[in-house]
Amino acid sequence: MQKLAIGMFDSGVGGITVLKEVKKLLPHEHIIYFGDTARVPYGNKSPRMVTKYALESALFLLTKGIKLLIIACNTSSAFALGILQKKMPIPVVGVISPGSKEAVAHTRVKKIGVIGTRTTIKSMAYDRSIKKLDPDIQVFSKACPLFVPIVEEGLEHDEVARLMAEKYLKGLKRSGIDVLVMGCTHYPVLEYVIKETLGKGVEIVHSGKETAKEAQEILGRKDLINKRGRGKCEYFVTDAPESFKEMGGRILGEPLTLVRSPGNLDYKDILFSS
Ligand code: DGL
Repeated sequence: MQKLAIGMFDSGVGGITVLKEVKKLLPHEHIIYFGDTARVPYGNKSPRMVTKYALESALFLLTKGIKLLIIACNTSSAFALGILQKKMPIPVVGVISPGSKEAVAHTRVKKIGVIGTRTTIKSMAYDRSIKKLDPDIQVFSKACPLFVPIVEEGLEHDEVARLMAEKYLKGLKRSGIDVLVMGCTHYPVLEYVIKETLGKGVEIVHSGKETAKEAQEILGRKDLINKRGRGKCEYFVTDAPESFKEMGGRILGEPLTLVRSPGNLDYKDILFSS
């Protein structure tokens, strides 16, 4: 069981920010990453489609024989965590609860900001998760839809990133938050601009980092940590691999070598079976 892989899925390449953290904490694990690059972005799709895609991705990973499933995508976590936890025969972790826990642990003024895709923000999943932990906390949310294409275009150091951060974060800054949750896979790439815009008084929470800790904790508790493996990462993407390799390599800081198509037959079977 310890030798089985950890499965992770995301709408595309952004989930590599989560994989990077998992790899740091669990360096001997075999990680199988599924990026739905043909259908990205999920952030402006309906809850029904996001849930359908999540089930398909999870089923594909299950056919690979995995011991834990990580939903790296915030938008998918917002809608599909409950159903996947119910349907999957293995533990399933989403990014929203770990990010919320960390934010609640750090706020002193009980005012937390959350940024994410339109669909994640509209779902109010972070609001619910934070208020469940402490009903006295006020949550201030803001959708930042242009952050994703800014990262995907490699413009994180460009003036446009700073301008958009100022525009999106202005209201949050005024609300007096002392913690901000980056509730989208891509935002950690913009962390330094976000930090600079909000100033020193606001602590930034990276949901993916907290999720990696939770994954480590779950595997540890079940004695499922691979302590001797080579630490291989395999990637399956639903569209051509070139831009995924380029962008993913940039985010991870090392080349992505094993990038493949999920395999027509398997994937089609899953895709058209419902
Ligand atoms: N992975 C998505 C998320 O974390 C961002 C990209 C998208 O919109 O699909 O919400």
